[in-house]
Amino acid sequence: MKRNNSFSQLFFMSLLVLIFVTFSVDARNTNIKKKLHKHHKKSHPLPHYDPHPIQPNTFDIMSFGAKGNGVSDDSEAFLAAWKCACKVSGATIKVPEKLKFLIKPITLQGPCMPDLTLQIDGTILAPPEVSSWPKSNLFQWINFKWVQNFTIKGYGTIDGQGSNWWSSSKLYDIQKTHSKQIPSMKPTAIRFYSSNFVKIRDIKIKNSPLCHLKFDNSKGIKVDNITISSPENSPNTDGIHLQNTQDVEIQHSNIGTGDDCVSIQTGCSNIHVHHIKCGPGHGISLGGLGKDKSVACVSDIIVEDISMKNTLYGARIKTWQGGNGMVKNVSFSRIKVYDVMYPVMIDQYYCDKQICKNQTGTVIISGVKFDQISGSYTLQPVHLACSNSIPCTDVDLTDIQLRPSLSYRGMQQAMCWNSYGKSQGQLVPSSIDYCLRSGGGLIKRIAKSHDSNQRGLKKGKYGTEKKSEK
Ligand SMILES: *[C@@H]1O[C@H](CO)[C@@H](O)[C@H](O)[C@H]1NC(C)=O
Ligand SMILES: *[C@@H]1O[C@H](CO)[C@@H](O)[C@H](O)[C@H]1NC(C)=O
Ligand SMILES: *[C@@H]1O[C@H](CO)[C@@H](O)[C@H](O)[C@H]1NC(C)=O
Ligand SMILES: *[C@@H]1O[C@H](CO)[C@@H](O)[C@H](O)[C@H]1NC(C)=O
Repeated sequence: MKRNNSFSQLFFMSLLVLIFVTFSVDARNTNIKKKLHKHHKKSHPLPHYDPHPIQPNTFDIMSFGAKGNGVSDDSEAFLAAWKCACKVSGATIKVPEKLKFLIKPITLQGPCMPDLTLQIDGTILAPPEVSSWPKSNLFQWINFKWVQNFTIKGYGTIDGQGSNWWSSSKLYDIQKTHSKQIPSMKPTAIRFYSSNFVKIRDIKIKNSPLCHLKFDNSKGIKVDNITISSPENSPNTDGIHLQNTQDVEIQHSNIGTGDDCVSIQTGCSNIHVHHIKCGPGHGISLGGLGKDKSVACVSDIIVEDISMKNTLYGARIKTWQGGNGMVKNVSFSRIKVYDVMYPVMIDQYYCDKQICKNQTGTVIISGVKFDQISGSYTLQPVHLACSNSIPCTDVDLTDIQLRPSLSYRGMQQAMCWNSYGKSQGQLVPSSIDYCLRSGGGLIKRIAKSHDSNQRGLKKGKYGTEKKSEK
């Protein structure tokens, strides 16, 4: 019995040892297999660059075959990283620092899993030669389409390398009829189409062939702490361009280009732009609205705490003659200007040629506040040129203090044409005080006139009145 017992003990022990050995060998095998598998997965050309500690939700474009030398085309790697990251909730696509990635025109398409982040710490470069752009793809360079709850951030740069486009545009303008070589269309650098809840933070965008950052048919946009720059002589290079887009906040950013710092177009509402340094460029603009008799609607716009330096315009609304629709509830406040040609402007005769045909009908402008606009101007402090057909109403000029700048040539008084509203507070020059016509009960009359196709207005009810320059 005793012997039997110790025998079974021995048997039990050896069984344990056997199990242990088998298990550890098995474990080692699995480990080896894992390593092999890992190695196999990475077997396409992986350069010197060592990705950061592996995080399951991080997709470094270097792991997708990007070269990062600024010369090889890294578009495929970028697209592949996007496709993988898009399927994972809370994923981050990394564009690593110190490297340059040449990217051809691409579309990064959703819908993706929520909270996708594109972390740009390196530099993304557009093809520098105009001729290397596919003719079929001149709308934009990087096109984000149908993305939701998406963030771009990082301390990197997106460089549109647009200088060849800018000079070619001059060539094109001159040789329009002679040359078909240079395309008349130029690409926007970054465009969001039909995308909601998008955040753009910290990055730099520069030298776009055309507009730098455009939102189209989107909502819930937040832009914070970005820098946009291109030279003063780069044509049509808007900083941020909004169209058919609602619920936008643009803040704490620095924008200086050859065109509008922020351009707000038709279909925009609830837009808040604040703490922006703007210049050089054309200031912050609503419009041009109503081109080719189109209907334009823009409402609920707040632009405040802005500093503008060396811009053509400051706070501006521009509409084409003959348009339709309405601009309402707009407020520009606490705007500091330095050497700005026209700090305060409404132009309902906007025209990109020498002469445009006079037309009746206009985008109605009502409810515009200019409050605490101060600093120096180089041509005219206030210029409100409202339509002959329908006046601007409910325009407020409050605390406007504008002095001629040192580089100022030739003097113009404040000018208001067909603009109704009130001026109050400190007004310098004093011509601002006499500029607006008083009377606020006009809106009803206008609405009625507008409904009846401006029949009453064609008789020159407003057009015959003298400009109220004093
Ligand atoms: C996207 O973000 C918005 C606003 O932050 C939020 O209300 C919404 O629930 C988010 N959607 C998803 C799918 O996470
Ligand atoms: C703004 O962005 C820069 C990178 O471009 C970063 O260094 C800085 O910390 C950011 N500032 C804030 C307040 O986030
Ligand atoms: C004007 O626009 C602001 C900003 O979007 C909004 O908060 C406010 O309610 C609007 N006022 C009117 C009278 O619609
Ligand atoms: C349009 O109207 C303005 C003011 O009535 C006038 O000075 C101008 O010559 C007209 N322009 C054309 C092209 O008819």
